[in-house]
Amino acid sequence: MTKVIAITSGKGGVGKTTVTANVGASLALMGKKVCVVDADFGLCNLDIPLGLTNRIIFDLFDYFNHTSLSLKSVLVKDKYIPNFYLLPGNKKGSFVEHDPVLLHQVISEIRESGQFDYVLIDSPSGIEKGFDTVIQSSDEAIVVTTPDLIALRDADRVIGILEETIRFSSSLVINWYNEKDGRLSIDDVVQTLAIPLLGTILEDEAIITSVQRGKVITLQPELEAGMRFRQIGRNIIKQETKAYEPTKSMKKQAHLIPLPLKLMKHKRSKNDHFVRGMAR
Ligand SMILES: Nc1ncnc2c1ncn2[C@@H]1O[C@H](COP(=O)(O)OP(=O)(O)OP(=O)(O)O)[C@@H](O)[C@H]1O
Ligand SMILES: [Mg+2]
Repeated sequence: MTKVIAITSGKGGVGKTTVTANVGASLALMGKKVCVVDADFGLCNLDIPLGLTNRIIFDLFDYFNHTSLSLKSVLVKDKYIPNFYLLPGNKKGSFVEHDPVLLHQVISEIRESGQFDYVLIDSPSGIEKGFDTVIQSSDEAIVVTTPDLIALRDADRVIGILEETIRFSSSLVINWYNEKDGRLSIDDVVQTLAIPLLGTILEDEAIITSVQRGKVITLQPELEAGMRFRQIGRNIIKQETKAYEPTKSMKKQAHLIPLPLKLMKHKRSKNDHFVRGMAR
């Protein structure tokens, strides 16, 4: 059965698109059939971290407007991972111009095709129509936040909406964590939001480089960020909340990592584990 997961946040720019691309790749690397859907209509940039911009021929706009187009002809195959596909969004319009029922239809079609184990939908930020439309088509949500008060308040609002109005479960990815910059601790974030923590991604320039290169960092297991995204994928498949642990082979490979990257790496916080938070 296909599981449809919305990647959402509240606040913009916290890393939803990066998480969608990398977690999607991680699930696909573990043998799952995965489709990532760009539903940040009007902006649409999920093709960039995947390096698939030049391979897009049709997008959802074309699909919605040309009934003769098959879903297969719109899907774009990943360059590196065989069972990984992008459903490109629609740069020409937003949800306001499009009937939300259309996204629902396309997701239902993907479900019925039985072709995919996981569909990850990259949502627009905010809690307006676009968010609502994505949520209505999903089975569960991953809420991405950075460890700062503004992002946290917005994430809390999103989780409140998910729990109260939609009543489905959500889990958390903390992105852009840097234990040295005096922002909130992992425990603070988890206790405030009180949902299971799937994983933490550190602030890492290698992620920015990977986006520029159009090759997800999940494909680089020698880098900590790559392994952290893989752990998130593993947690999704196994429905666990295991914290990332550096493996021996990673430690062995440490000498292969160029010096600037070594300097950028931070020690794993002893607080970096799942803590069930306070009741909201
Ligand atoms: N952990 C990280 N460390 C360093 N840079 C990061 C990290 N996560 C994301 N970035 C960078 O931050 C930028 C914004 O990320 P991204 O586009 O994924 O955010 P978003 O939540 O999807 O934004 P929007 O709300 O506009 O859709 C990207 O250039 C990405 O490379
Ligand atoms: Mg985005």
